[in-house]
Amino acid sequence: MSFSASWLALREPADHRARDCALADRLALHLAQHSTARLLDLGCGSGSNLRALAPVLGQSQDWTLVDYDAALLAAARDALMAWADQADASKDALVLAKQGKAIRVQFQQADLSQGLQPLLASKPHCVTASALFDLCSADFIAQATHAIAQCGAAFYTVLTYDGVERWHPSHARDEAVLAAFIAHQKTDKGFGISAGPDAPDALAHGFQREGYEVFEASTPWQLEAPRDNMLMAELARGIAAAARETGQVEPILVDDWLAARLAATHAAIGHRDLLALPR
Ligand SMILES: C[S@@+](CC[C@H](N)C(=O)[O-])C[C@H]1O[C@@H](n2cnc3c(N)ncnc32)[C@H](O)[C@@H]1O
Repeated sequence: MSFSASWLALREPADHRARDCALADRLALHLAQHSTARLLDLGCGSGSNLRALAPVLGQSQDWTLVDYDAALLAAARDALMAWADQADASKDALVLAKQGKAIRVQFQQADLSQGLQPLLASKPHCVTASALFDLCSADFIAQATHAIAQCGAAFYTVLTYDGVERWHPSHARDEAVLAAFIAHQKTDKGFGISAGPDAPDALAHGFQREGYEVFEASTPWQLEAPRDNMLMAELARGIAAAARETGQVEPILVDDWLAARLAATHAAIGHRDLLALPR
């Protein structure tokens, strides 16, 4: 499944607003025991997770950004250089300075569905991801939680879709279109049948089974017109296309829903953030 850099850029402000600050602060406290915190960002896209999290963490950070999409890894490199106060790309890794922090960044192209073990060989202190795990299967999540716990790393993932959506004004087809969208979410996105909105619970249970302490927060996108018109329109078009593909709702009814959604004034799109710490 591929994601465009333009879609990721469109959602980044809403993603960053939605993230739970208390969980990020708790992670920062946990990582403060390391003079240089090593982080592994799974499904990094164009680097949004680093841009949100690095300012909260300690002075010295060493990140590995992983994605299977070479174009997104290149976009991440460019976007991070533009974001930093200073950037040095002359060495084997990108070395960034941002708000007084030293941030070393390496990029790795890898297909996560092949398993995390090779990526965990670098012994990260924290495995992190943003907007990834709803794409993954329950089996992949179980294997990933076990592999991460085996290496004793903290785990922090944000913005996992949880299937709760409220659009305003409401529309007669909201429920049927959402049910079709969720059915589409639970198809194969490259990891076997996706957990979709069941992913947050699967992650929480996985880490609890491993003896980790789990902290969660509800982090919906809070979208409003006119500020978020473009994001709401792209999102509504994506939901409508997915609902049509399932054949669960008559196309003419999906069209009617989409027309109403393109004029929506507010939308709350449910996500969860999760932090799991070894005891
Ligand atoms: C919804 S995007 C989120 C991107 C980024 N974390 C963010 O928050 O903007 C999901 C990302 O996971 C990557 N991805 C999906 N399946 C993958 C796989 N099997 N292996 C590696 N990366 C994958 C996609 O290329 C994409 O960058």
